[in-house]
Amino acid sequence: MLEFGDLGDERGKLVVLEGEKDIPFAIRRVFYIYGSDPEVVRGRHANRESEFVLVNVAGQSKVRVTDGEREDIVALTRPMQGIYLPRMVWKDMYGFSPDSVLLVLASTHYDPAEYIRNYDTYLQIVRGGAG
Ligand code: TYD
Repeated sequence: MLEFGDLGDERGKLVVLEGEKDIPFAIRRVFYIYGSDPEVVRGRHANRESEFVLVNVAGQSKVRVTDGEREDIVALTRPMQGIYLPRMVWKDMYGFSPDSVLLVLASTHYDPAEYIRNYDTYLQIVRGGAG
């Protein structure tokens, strides 16, 4: 988990995310997910190359992360809190509140070829050491 500083004052709050400082990689891509219903599960993939940081800048969601052995479930509930996801972890995002805006910072430009979208394939790769 990453905890970001609050540069706010009496005018309101301000959170700064600088690549290679607050974020442990150079940021090459930013996207955000909103308007997902609470019962929706997004993600369901692993990435061979991309690292991510996820921040719920508004609202709340949950992230389930597994490396094929351990599993962590993290609730993103505050704009000053982020989760760092290294390469080759499987992640699901779900439990989106109606006001959820999930900001995603990525270390790569988008390349669909680096996505692993089949969980059995993912397990074979991480358990077999192949790929
Ligand atoms: P998808 O990976 O399914 O989203 P999530 O992981 O949040 O469930 O992406 C949804 C669509 O958006 C899909 O058609 C691919 C496209 N997309 C891009 O073109 N560039 C991107 O950086 C991302 C993340 C998705």
